[in-house]
Amino acid sequence: MEKIQEITKGKAKSLYTTSNQEQLVMHFSDDTSAFDGKKKEALMGKGSVNNQFNAFIMDHLEKNGVETHHIEVLNNNDSLVHKLSMFPIECVIRNRASGSICRRLGTEDGLILESPLFEFFLKDDELGDPLINDEHILSFGWATRHQIDEMKLLTYKVNTILSKLFLDSGLILVDFKVEFGVTGEKILLADEFTPDGCRLWDSETLKKMDKDRFRQGLGDVVESYHQVADRLGMNIKLD
Ligand code: ADP
Ligand code: TMP
Ligand code: ASP
Repeated sequence: MEKIQEITKGKAKSLYTTSNQEQLVMHFSDDTSAFDGKKKEALMGKGSVNNQFNAFIMDHLEKNGVETHHIEVLNNNDSLVHKLSMFPIECVIRNRASGSICRRLGTEDGLILESPLFEFFLKDDELGDPLINDEHILSFGWATRHQIDEMKLLTYKVNTILSKLFLDSGLILVDFKVEFGVTGEKILLADEFTPDGCRLWDSETLKKMDKDRFRQGLGDVVESYHQVADRLGMNIKLD
């Protein structure tokens, strides 16, 4: 499937139209962003590892009953996806406290939560992706009650499936962000699941293996993504 025209250029990915009106090409670039675009850098090979990483995770979720937008990998950096109407919302689950929740609630980094914590954020870089709740979503009409319930249910399901997958490879899924979109009546998991949008710690040493290495200037960002992929048995093709 050929890319025709770029319709969205985000901070890490671009979307292109194709000859099929219902399908898009998602291109994973090397661009890496943190703090809502305030820190930016191109990290060689990141787009390629993330595209293939994402495909592996989306396939695993599909096999375990979560419907996703992913159709197939086209080449190292591109995948074909179903075109969706996206909710302007990010769904986050935390198994341990880290990142923004520590700043917000004064919590210690790594605190194991009594139960997984679900949070919604509004997808708006200029506002710094503020924390919102169901009532905001209903009042502003960003999604219906049914869609809110479905997004929560699916995000919890993703957490259960992936926490096990990672733990079996010696990694703790600390937290993650996912996005959903609709086509007709169907809600599908969209965007990406890669180390750019989650926190993964080595279960023995608690070493950070995700984008916090970039946020905190710890180095070896792409190398760590490859190490995670290797542990999960992904066969990542190099450029
Ligand atoms: P950002 O918007 O945070 O800068 P990206 O660089 O990842 O993020 O850009 C990808 C964009 O594509 C995001 O806005 C995301 O919501 C959107 N998107 C992801 N999957 C789909 C899809 N299947 N259909 C339409 N848009 C999508
Ligand atoms: P946070 O600690 O910054 O709120 O992030 C929680 C998790 O969600 C973390 O794994 C990073 C991910 N995330 C993104 O990938 N993009 C975002 O815009 C936000 C708010 C979170
Ligand atoms: N995903 C957001 C960004 O790219 C926030 C972050 O990861 O820190 O800026």
